Amino acid sequence: METRIRKLDYSRIDENIIQEAGQIIREGGLVAFPTETVYGLGGDALNPESSRKIYAAKGRPSDNPLIVHIAEKSDLYRIVREVPQKAEKLMEAFWPGPLTMIFFKNELVPEATTGGLGTVAVRMPSDRIAAAFIRAAGGFVAAPSANVSGRPSTTTAGHVEEDLSGRIEMILDGGQAVIGLESTIVDMSVEPPVILRPGAVTREMMEEQIGPLEVDKAIIAPDSGIKPKAPGMKYRHYAPRADLAVVEGQTEQVIAAINRMTEEKEAEGKRVGIIATDETASRYPKGLVFSLGARRHEEEIAMHLFEVLRDFDETDVDCIYSESFEEASIGPAIMNRLLKAAGHKVIHV
Ligand code: TXA
Ligand code: MG
Repeated sequence: METRIRKLDYSRIDENIIQEAGQIIREGGLVAFPTETVYGLGGDALNPESSRKIYAAKGRPSDNPLIVHIAEKSDLYRIVREVPQKAEKLMEAFWPGPLTMIFFKNELVPEATTGGLGTVAVRMPSDRIAAAFIRAAGGFVAAPSANVSGRPSTTTAGHVEEDLSGRIEMILDGGQAVIGLESTIVDMSVEPPVILRPGAVTREMMEEQIGPLEVDKAIIAPDSGIKPKAPGMKYRHYAPRADLAVVEGQTEQVIAAINRMTEEKEAEGKRVGIIATDETASRYPKGLVFSLGARRHEEEIAMHLFEVLRDFDETDVDCIYSESFEEASIGPAIMNRLLKAAGHKVIHV
């Protein structure tokens, strides 16, 4: 199939294009669309056939549930059995935005969308193209991240084209996703609620609204063999073609260690990639250095992480060393994705 690509301008969102995209969804087709986190691969959430097409286009195991995207808070009540008070508080504070909540679903939501689960993940994006598109599509758009299963999530329409061209009807191009990491996921079907995936809405921000939260143990101790509660978190993700290791420690020691390891590898005839920051990039005389942005603005790091992982796949490096990130608010989300990409290979210095 030929994938139509339609560029949209936020200052004047073309309603004809939005209607064209909405109609594709209503007729059971697939459209990739921008959100503030990453691009989504959308289909009609209430049509089991559409969900099956999403799994096929992504090459994704069908036990891995999809997030249902809505454009009106009131639409949540149409697809779930109950909305706990704490969830209403989080909706009030963070919707529309990069927060996904899990509820008990009702019969309107097919099990093909929820991977056979009795719960459903719901998110209301703040992106204005996403909101207009969801409305035009009938209000309920199932969407995983718009990447081939196992690759980094997509943060530009170009990345979506790389992965999904020929497999979906349309890509809505809204430029670069401003957050660059997928939404926070919190399970509201249990008490206390549990964070299943860290994101731009942090634990601290949510606890300020509703008190203590738990964090899925599979996130805290990823090597423990504990099965994650979000089925998708168990799969290897984001892995670049080259061997990636994260180097942790004091900045000066990290720089020295990466330079030493790079020299060793190059002496063996290997090509080395380095994931650095604007502050440190000039300190690496050898290797192919890509900067994620300014370390003092961790949002920049988050925004460029998936892009840099993809960029390295276009090169011939054999291994990659990355600096690590921990301090600021979105730090845990950055590290969660980076460590997954590295298959949890960490070098402590
Ligand atoms: O930012 C985002 O959340 C993006 C944009 C497009 O909205 N979407 C996204 O979807 O990241 P996806 O499919 O790549 O990740 C959804 C995660 C998966 O790990 C999945 O297992 C989990 O959410 N999930 C979905 N429904 C669930 C449920 N009912 N219970 C537990 N985990 C669930
Ligand atoms: Mg994904």
